[in-house]
Amino acid sequence: MKLSRLNQEMRAFFADLYEGESKPLVLGEGQESARVALVGEAPGEQEALKGKPFVGKAGRNLDEFLRATGLDRAQLYITNVVKIRPTRVSDAGRIVNRPPTREEIELFLPWLRRELAVVKAPLVVTLGNVALKALAGRERTIGVVHGQLLSVEGMRIFPLYHPASVLYNPRLKEIYARDLAALSDFI
Ligand code: URA
Repeated sequence: MKLSRLNQEMRAFFADLYEGESKPLVLGEGQESARVALVGEAPGEQEALKGKPFVGKAGRNLDEFLRATGLDRAQLYITNVVKIRPTRVSDAGRIVNRPPTREEIELFLPWLRRELAVVKAPLVVTLGNVALKALAGRERTIGVVHGQLLSVEGMRIFPLYHPASVLYNPRLKEIYARDLAALSDFI
């Protein structure tokens, strides 16, 4: 199956489900023949506005890190587990991001699996705990398996911390640099 067909199916399915809500779907982006598929958590505000994954602050951070591996976006396929922006209303009355719920993750996961089956990238890089647990099992945690190649149901998975967590925790920067150096060996 082609990615465009799958995307059409996904749009039809979620248009019915979120009927009447203004929840734009942010689909994956990149080459069907990509060597590496990056899987994030869910779109944020900028991603929902532009309809593309990782175009906000976390995306800029990601680009910076990717430079260290010699990979650029053109060689990648980039997507998220959940393809709508999960939001809540803050105490100040603003619409802010929230982590996706287990129900949202389970709703979108079969679509992600189909997407990865079409793209067939030899290496799947998960960004953060949500993508790691969705694809490699809930018992895994990023603090333990980051930077190690996992083999799960025939898929080669390389877990990285989420680029946003490095923004919030600068101490992770050095660890991230090491993980990226290890990643370069596998691509
Ligand atoms: N964070 C994610 O996990 N995905 C995006 O697309 C943007 C920020």
